[in-house]
Amino acid sequence: MSIHDLVAEKQPESFVFSPENEALIKKIIAKYPKGKQASAVMPLLDLAQRQNDNWIPMKAIEKIAELLGMARIRVLEVASFYTMYNLKPVGKYFLQLCGTTPCMLRGSDDIARCIKDKLGIVSGESTEDGKFSVLEVECLGACVNAPIVQVNDDFYEDLDYDSMELLIESLSNDTPLPQGSVKGRSGSQAETGPTSLTKMKSKSAALKSSIKSKKVSVVSTEKARS
Ligand code: FES
Repeated sequence: MSIHDLVAEKQPESFVFSPENEALIKKIIAKYPKGKQASAVMPLLDLAQRQNDNWIPMKAIEKIAELLGMARIRVLEVASFYTMYNLKPVGKYFLQLCGTTPCMLRGSDDIARCIKDKLGIVSGESTEDGKFSVLEVECLGACVNAPIVQVNDDFYEDLDYDSMELLIESLSNDTPLPQGSVKGRSGSQAETGPTSLTKMKSKSAALKSSIKSKKVSVVSTEKARS
């Protein structure tokens, strides 16, 4: 794949950071030692993307290179390496479907099938109305509740074909389901609920109640003495 496949054909003629982002950029750059300001490239790319409807135009790459004293190609290398940065416009709802082994073993193929059935798109494509884009990505770091789909900034976990269908319907109506596990799992607990932690919980409850009753008995003995 060449860089021409990665970046949008149609590019804006200019890009200027908003005054709010200019102020944020100063704070971000100040976090790094003098001469190491190139380390701010990732947060600046993120700001540019958020300001520009979730994609980064080439003029923003140039602006960031200028701000950080970097070669443009170095900024572009970073932006094209990470799937979290979009170099082309994406839909209002950008679905990042994890296809790495834990998610694959837990049914990510069914999720991809559901997206194709309901939206008619596969990885790298957008719907004609510009509402949805989908991209298959590597591990999103939430394997414990696999399979995962990230929608813009939100994670949806424990999905299957039916729950993905419901999620797509909710997004189509602009009333997204609450983020998190669609099965209501708390944190990364087992699907059957807490196991060893339950025992720890009951032990600690017993300990607390024993301390409380000892305190009561000490108080009543002291009262009896006085
Ligand atoms: S493998 Fe899918 S989140 Fe890690």
